[in-house]
Amino acid sequence: MAMAGPLAAAAAARSLAAASSALAAGARAFASSSAAAAARKSWFSDVGMAPRDPILGVTEKFLADTSPDKINLGVGAYRDDSGKPVVLDCVREAERRIAGKDFMEYLPIGGLRDFVTESVKLAYGDACPDLSNVAAVQSLSGTGSCRLMAEFQRRFMPHSTVYIPVPTWSNHHSIWRDAGVPQSTYRYYKPETKGLDFEGLMEDVKAAPSGSLFLLHACAHNPTGVDPTPEQWAAISKLMAERGHFPFFDMAYQGFASGDCDKDSGAIRTFLRDGHRLGVSQSYAKNMGMYGQRIGAFSIVCDSKDEAARVESQMKLVARPMYSNPPLHGALMVKTILRDPQLKAQWFAEVRGMAERIISMRALLRRNLEQLGSQHSWKHITDQIGMFAYSGMTPEMVDTLAAKHSIYMTRNGRISMAGVNTKNVARLASAMHEVTK
Ligand SMILES: Cc1ncc(COP(=O)(O)O)c(C=O)c1O
Repeated sequence: MAMAGPLAAAAAARSLAAASSALAAGARAFASSSAAAAARKSWFSDVGMAPRDPILGVTEKFLADTSPDKINLGVGAYRDDSGKPVVLDCVREAERRIAGKDFMEYLPIGGLRDFVTESVKLAYGDACPDLSNVAAVQSLSGTGSCRLMAEFQRRFMPHSTVYIPVPTWSNHHSIWRDAGVPQSTYRYYKPETKGLDFEGLMEDVKAAPSGSLFLLHACAHNPTGVDPTPEQWAAISKLMAERGHFPFFDMAYQGFASGDCDKDSGAIRTFLRDGHRLGVSQSYAKNMGMYGQRIGAFSIVCDSKDEAARVESQMKLVARPMYSNPPLHGALMVKTILRDPQLKAQWFAEVRGMAERIISMRALLRRNLEQLGSQHSWKHITDQIGMFAYSGMTPEMVDTLAAKHSIYMTRNGRISMAGVNTKNVARLASAMHEVTK
């Protein structure tokens, strides 16, 4: 009903008064909440400073150094002989081929199917005759695959412990810790011989409770560069089968160890031929130089097609709340390369080229050290394989290299051989000679 005259004026005055009293109440509430905010301490005042990442922290120190001759041997990223990052020609060509296509849609949770299929074939070769028994998804590179494995282990292998080699890539411990999986370690490296502690490894495999998950580096072990021989892998496979362990291969460097992608997945294929059910993490960061694309695959070999379907459905359930679905661009590039015989052959040649340059730098570094008259044996530099040389230098020697020579590496004495080139190798050798005298 419409109001008029004094009645309407009184109603308007009442509603104005109500509005201004609501405003006043709001202001009081605000004043008292800011007083409360001032009275209580900040939400985050108790948050401590996290320690620097042992690997990425090296780059921070390197960047802060103003010396024109500084050398960064910390991060495992390939550089050419001029110290420059490399984009492979096959990657450039794949990028050219997909340019302008409509590919901005979401991928499914499990990623690009053709990419995943090609990745599994690349890892397993003909050692896995029935790929329909394989559960597999695209992952956020090697780190993401390991994280999926760890979470999957927590959910579906509830009484198992993860056995991690000593030493290992430092992130392995954090990944399994964050997934809440109990951890143990197994012996891997023998400082006295600078080689594999095969006896220790076998004893630890034997002693672990049946049904443990063993984290194995498929090739180019990080940080030691020490891999078991084919005969040693065969013995490890046999013992793990007897003990009923589950092998999980982290393969971050396929092709980077020997230059041959088939040879570098030889251990996985040996285990498959021995009838193991196993898991594999693959990464295209190093071998395709696609570090920032975060592109990889995670797979598990199951007993049957039906089991693989169930396992794969659960892998997707792990991935969905973590990151929903993986990125498309890198997957399309890798698929383009692996599906085209010519591009694939070109990629194989380019991986071989990177591996061979590193192998030749190992020889050159050793020769330089020997020519300088070093009293130490540097044979391990050329015996080791892959991206890293585990030099045997102490943390104090590494600190002196940084402070006096502007040469940076992780404090465990690990040298990223990918950062060594014909221009800096002599300076590196003479600094190493000086600090190890
Ligand atoms: C043994 C090992 N696993 C996994 C990774 C992870 O690599 P990304 O996540 O870049 O593929 C690395 C990288 O350094 C590694 O050395």
